[in-house]
Amino acid sequence: SSLLRSVKTLARPTTARAYSVDSVPSRKVTVLGAAGGIGQPLSLLMKLNPLVSQLALYDIGGTPGVAADVSHINSRSEVAGYMGDDQLGQALEGSDVVIIPAGVPRKPGMTRDDLFNINAGIVKSLCTAIAKYCPHAIVNMISNPVNSTVPIAAEVFKKAGIYDEKKLFGVTTLDVVRAKTFYAGKANVNVAEVNVPVVGGHAGVTILPLFSQATPKANLSQDDIQALTKRTQDGGTEVVEAKAGKGSATLSMAYAGAIFADACLKGLNGVPDVVECSYVQSTITELPFFASKVRLGKNGVEEVLGLGPLSDYEKEGLEKLKPELKSSIEKGIEFAKKN
Ligand code: NAI
Repeated sequence: SSLLRSVKTLARPTTARAYSVDSVPSRKVTVLGAAGGIGQPLSLLMKLNPLVSQLALYDIGGTPGVAADVSHINSRSEVAGYMGDDQLGQALEGSDVVIIPAGVPRKPGMTRDDLFNINAGIVKSLCTAIAKYCPHAIVNMISNPVNSTVPIAAEVFKKAGIYDEKKLFGVTTLDVVRAKTFYAGKANVNVAEVNVPVVGGHAGVTILPLFSQATPKANLSQDDIQALTKRTQDGGTEVVEAKAGKGSATLSMAYAGAIFADACLKGLNGVPDVVECSYVQSTITELPFFASKVRLGKNGVEEVLGLGPLSDYEKEGLEKLKPELKSSIEKGIEFAKKN
C-alpha cells in the first residue's frame, strides 16, 4: 500500500531529505485517545505519514510522554501532546482530520454493544468539542460500538448545527484488512493483491464481507466462504479471547486506522479515485447508516458506491443484518437525544 511505501521512504534518511514537502498541503491530524492501546501505535503510524504536517495527540492522561516519544522521529509533522479537558480545544483547533480511538475496549464475553454505556458518553463529549473547535474536520470514528457511536456523533453535530454527512466516517477498515488476510490464506493468492469489499456495519453478523466480489478470483467452496465470513465477523473476538482480558485489537486496528486516515488525507488533497469501505450516512439500503465502498474527495465523501452484485448467501446475510444494525442505530440516536 502507499502507506507502507511512505513508511519505507521515511526509513531511508537520504530519500527522506530528498522528499519535497513544498507541494504537499499542510494538514493537521488530531488523535483523541492517543495514549491508549490503539492510540499509541496509531500516533506512531500517523507520524510516519508524510501527508501530515501537524499531529495533535490528546488523551485524559499520558499524552505528554507519548508526544515527547513520537516527536523525536525524524519525519515531517510537528507533534504536540494535550492532556485533559482544558486542552481539548487547542488539540482540535484547525484540525483537518480527527481520529477517535477513545473509550474502553472489550474483554472476553463482552459484545461491542456492552461498551455502549461508557463509550457513548465519551463520544458525545468529544463530538461536542469537535463541533465547537473544528466543525469542518473529517471525523474517523473508531470507538465502539461503531454502529451506534456514528449515529451519536451525527446527532451531536445536528444539535450544534454543523452536521455534514460527508465528513463523518465509522472506521470499518479492520474488517476489510481481516477479510483480505483470511481470503488470501484460504485462496492461496498474493495478499498484497487482494481486494474484498466489506459492507453493513461493524459488529458480529452486521459485518458482511462480499467474497463473491473478491479479487483475484478463486474457486472457493460454499463451506470455505461461510467459514471465511464467520471468521471475518468474529475476528475481533478472536483477538479479545487471545488477549484474555487485556483488551481488544490494537496493533492491527492502528494499522487499519492509519490506512483509512491516509485515504481521507489523499481525498482532501485531491488525489483521484480513492475508494475505501466505511460506515457512513447512506441511502443504498433503507438504513440511515451503512458501510459500503465510498469514494473520498476534497469534501470527504464524494460518492457512496452501491453494493454491486451479491450472491444468494450474501443477500441472505444482508437481510439478516438489517434488524440488528437498525436497532443499534436507533439506540445511538435515542442516547444522543436523551442526554
Ligand atoms: P484503551 O483503553 O487501551 O485506550 C483508550 C484510551 O482512551 C485510553 O488512553 C483512555 O485514557 C482514553 N480515553 C478515555 N476517555 C477519554 C476521553 N474522554 N477523551 C480522550 N481520551 C479518552 O482502548 P483501545 O484498545 O485503544 O480501544 C479504544 C476503542 O477502540 C474501544 O472503544 C474499542 O472497542 C475500539 N476499537 C474499535 C475497532 C474498530 O474496528 N473500529 C477495533 C478495535 C477497538
